[in-house]
Amino acid sequence: MNQQINSQSQAIPHLVGQGVRTLNIAVLPGDGIGPEIIEQALNVTKAVCRKFGHKLNYEYALVGAIAIDQTGEPYPRATHDLCMISDAALFGAIGDPKYDNNPSAKVRPEQGLLKMRKDLGLYANIRPVTTFPSLLHKSPLRADLVEGADFMCIRELTGGMYFGRPQGRSEDGNTAYDTCVYTREEVERILHLAYKYARQRRRKVTVVDKANVIATSRLWRQIAQEIAPQYADVETEYMFVDNAAMRIIQCPKSFDVLVTENLFGDILTDEASVITGSLGMLPSASIGLHTSVFEPIHGSYPQAAGKNIANPLATVLSAALMFEYAFGMIEEGKLIRDAVTASMETGIVTEDIADGAKACSTSEVGEWIVNYVLR
Ligand code: IPM
Ligand code: MN
Repeated sequence: MNQQINSQSQAIPHLVGQGVRTLNIAVLPGDGIGPEIIEQALNVTKAVCRKFGHKLNYEYALVGAIAIDQTGEPYPRATHDLCMISDAALFGAIGDPKYDNNPSAKVRPEQGLLKMRKDLGLYANIRPVTTFPSLLHKSPLRADLVEGADFMCIRELTGGMYFGRPQGRSEDGNTAYDTCVYTREEVERILHLAYKYARQRRRKVTVVDKANVIATSRLWRQIAQEIAPQYADVETEYMFVDNAAMRIIQCPKSFDVLVTENLFGDILTDEASVITGSLGMLPSASIGLHTSVFEPIHGSYPQAAGKNIANPLATVLSAALMFEYAFGMIEEGKLIRDAVTASMETGIVTEDIADGAKACSTSEVGEWIVNYVLR
């Protein structure tokens, strides 16, 4: 690793020797606003390491459109190798309008994301949905419906229609097909994970499927019914995906852990994210067989790229998830969360949530949080 920050062991005497560690992080800024928001999240990560006396090693790697431009591949081998030897990866965003407007492009940035998920075995995408008191008025839902909503979406990430084969077109080009495939093993491991998280929360799992129509969903439900009795201390609820889409906006507080297959999870987590008032606020963790990846759930927001106006908080909160999930460092994660809450309450926020008041730039928000962490 080519960049190092040495711990300041003299700074925090009471922490010396208490779980001081070395963190090796792959930094994947990606496209659009990715580099700007990652810069802030990395600065916050450095500050937390300094504060707690951890040693941080980090190295940058390419992914997405920028990787195609520079190497021809959206997820180059060098990036994968770096991720594999790192303890965690911090990821910004991918996507570029020049590909969106060219449906016949053979290599696409999104393929890099799918390949990264598959090659790192990232079978679970965890998206916590929490509300922020100072943002309640920005929610499209009534404040009394969302206030206190706190649930976790667990999306299966390496199966289903995203990866099922065959996928393609008939020879005449007039028929297209995708295949949705799930194996027992894939369904079992994600359900066990959902129960594991539910046991650390309010002990309720909602299994979302379309078992009234789709064969893979019937397998999901069958396996869920087999597994549920092993977690008798957790309530299991079964819900069709169309109903779940409705319940998320009617009664978001009724969910604790929601678990579902890849495509349903893609759609429901976008829906769930906006009820909190800003898409710029929600982090995610992708975990699985190898190194975990932490990323904001929003996209690359190309219109804002390079303007220093994008909201860095979802990425900063992804760093908090990284401390908690990848390193089991609960205090470190909490300090970042507290800093983010404080920045919002002080009005140190970007234009998307400034609400008419003076907006700060991406880097001003990041710097304020760094100072909060170090104070
Ligand atoms: C997401 C994104 C991706 C997905 C795209 C960019 C391939 O929408 O992470 O939710 O569909 O999984
Ligand atoms: Mn999506």
